[in-house]
Amino acid sequence: MNITRIALAAAIALATASAPLAAQAQAKIKVGLMLPATGTFAALGTAIENGFRLYVDEQGGKLAGREIEFVRVDDESDPSKATDNVNKLIKRDNVDVIVGTVHSGVALAMARAVRESGTPLIVPNAGADAITGPLCAANIVRSSFSNWQPGFASGVMAAQKGYKRAVTIYWNYAAGQESAKGFTEAFEKGGGKVIKDLSLPFPNVEFQALLTEIAAQKPDVVFAFFAGGGAVKFVKDYDAAGLKKSVPLFGSGFLTDGTLEAQGASAQGLQTTLHYADSLDTPRNNAFRKSFALTYKQNADVYAVQGYDAAQILGAGLAAVKGDITKRDALTAAMRKVTVDSPRGKFTLSAAGNPVQDMYLREAKGLNNEYRAVAVKALADPARGCKL
Ligand code: BEZ
Repeated sequence: MNITRIALAAAIALATASAPLAAQAQAKIKVGLMLPATGTFAALGTAIENGFRLYVDEQGGKLAGREIEFVRVDDESDPSKATDNVNKLIKRDNVDVIVGTVHSGVALAMARAVRESGTPLIVPNAGADAITGPLCAANIVRSSFSNWQPGFASGVMAAQKGYKRAVTIYWNYAAGQESAKGFTEAFEKGGGKVIKDLSLPFPNVEFQALLTEIAAQKPDVVFAFFAGGGAVKFVKDYDAAGLKKSVPLFGSGFLTDGTLEAQGASAQGLQTTLHYADSLDTPRNNAFRKSFALTYKQNADVYAVQGYDAAQILGAGLAAVKGDITKRDALTAAMRKVTVDSPRGKFTLSAAGNPVQDMYLREAKGLNNEYRAVAVKALADPARGCKL
């Protein structure tokens, strides 16, 4: 081989060897978005997706230099379809990371599936305590809350206000049960007593018989967990039954988040606890709300914040591995270490992967859940059963 042919062969070998690298640098990161697009939680899913996309768009459409491709699945908030749906993303679509979902029952199935596959999972709403409890795993983090957190904060506030006898009412699945449990724990520690638990199956909205029972019990306060379309109907029915005037209605903030326009006068003045308040007057929250409203012609709510923060967590993880999503251990380790500069205020993740965050007391005024006070500072979920 003469010198020219040797040089040519070397050049070809070099080009071939570097081709996969170049291709890899160009490849998009596949984000599986498993959210409800139909049913009582549809608006919540849209807000989460919009929040996530907003953060990616603010970074020029890329995270750590990698373009993002979305693969979407409508999970319908249906736990019976959850395992099939998540396995489509993992096995058929080969997504790099999964973001989802809203409903605790669906999210529990997702957590079990990614514990097997090792796919990184960011939960942008569903509060099922077990996800950062017995099912906690290195590849699972939440950008939202555990069901226990807002329930517990409500119990603290209700006891502080001097209420003694409470009734709880909720959808009978993990989110409702665990929110009511958190409420009961704090309320009874503060000297109150839950005299009755009332529930109905998700997503049932036939509240009448239960409202009659509340009127008969005459409690000092009612704690409720409902969200989305169901929360709209519950708050209106509570008012129409004449209860708003006689028994203060308290709840985790999902009762009035993203729902105030549809609830109208029935929601005005309701006090709830949550890790976000629309009127938090910080440069970070004001800029976020402005940008969200300009982009989507809609006000941001807690679900939009959680979607936005899910993208921030993924962005931080990807930055740490310089965009190399194949380095799963380093990626998820970095995601867990991040301090998220959230519109809700800065927060970190616990060892179990759940936000340690301030819980706010809010009051519904016009179209906003206005900040009133910090109900509990830097509240960490107890992560019961997590071995990490
Ligand atoms: C849940 O199922 O975990 C949930 C759904 C809507 C709002 C809050 C929690």
